[in-house]
Amino acid sequence: MVESEENMKLDLCSIILDNPVIPASGTFGYGREFAEFYDINRLGTFSFKGTTGERRFGNPTPRIAECQQGMINSVGLQNPGVDAVINEELSEIAKIFSKPVMANVSGFSIKEYVDVACRLALEEQVGWIELNISCPNVHNGGMAFGTDPHEAANVTEKVKRALQSQKEMGGDKPLIVKLSPNVTDITEIAVACEAAGADGLTLINTVQGMRINLKTGKPVIAKKIGGLSGPAIFPIALRMIYQTYEKVNIPIIGCGGVSSAEDVLEMMMAGATAVQVGAANLVNPMICPEIIDGLPLHMKKYGIDNIADIIGGAH
Ligand code: FUM
Repeated sequence: MVESEENMKLDLCSIILDNPVIPASGTFGYGREFAEFYDINRLGTFSFKGTTGERRFGNPTPRIAECQQGMINSVGLQNPGVDAVINEELSEIAKIFSKPVMANVSGFSIKEYVDVACRLALEEQVGWIELNISCPNVHNGGMAFGTDPHEAANVTEKVKRALQSQKEMGGDKPLIVKLSPNVTDITEIAVACEAAGADGLTLINTVQGMRINLKTGKPVIAKKIGGLSGPAIFPIALRMIYQTYEKVNIPIIGCGGVSSAEDVLEMMMAGATAVQVGAANLVNPMICPEIIDGLPLHMKKYGIDNIADIIGGAH
């Protein structure tokens, strides 16, 4: 049993988190590798790898490029498919994680989003559905749904309605929509998703970028363009969270380049209720417990008695 401090607790769509720290989808697998380093029950929760209807092997390699202050990925939603996630991964997660987990759902059609979200939401261990309409690495899916407010609202509404229809079976889990920064005005998409029934938002997914190999004169990544994450995108994420907080009334999960307890506090002051840690897990597998350990010290340093009090405090 992991002890948690009362003044670090937060309400995320009526589920209480022990602290705001959540490893981001795609950087934490299903938790197993990290559970070898620390008790992952210390986390607020974690978001597992984006799940699609069928198993996917992902994009051709190379699909990672390093950069100063970050990395570019073009994984292409590699995952074992929803059947394997339900039949194999969730039972493994149950052995190492006793809190509600966040299920990241990806898709290439509205039907796929609805089917996968509904199936995962019926699983007792799943606390939230995180609808990933922002993956920049696949054609005709992911970000294609998240860069147009009408498309974003449409898929959000269809999934929300389908989740509500399984309320009596316990399958009406809170719907969090993960948004893309690769748009002119993210607040337009955020407002559209809220109006369509989203219970929360995750901001932001990766920022499109590329590298060229000077020896070959060709793009490093096989698919040429990928998604940039890491400290380089922190100020972009912060700006988008700040702007979106002023336009919506649902909780925002901050995400993008977070690598310290101070980053977490800054994102919360911008408007985040909780904060995802992504690329930093790949650099230092202990980063999340280090951040959790660092939060009380930094709260004291900045005169913060209760972490929930600082949400949106910069406005
Ligand atoms: O390519 C990928 O699997 C990345 C997914 C995402 O950024 O949502």
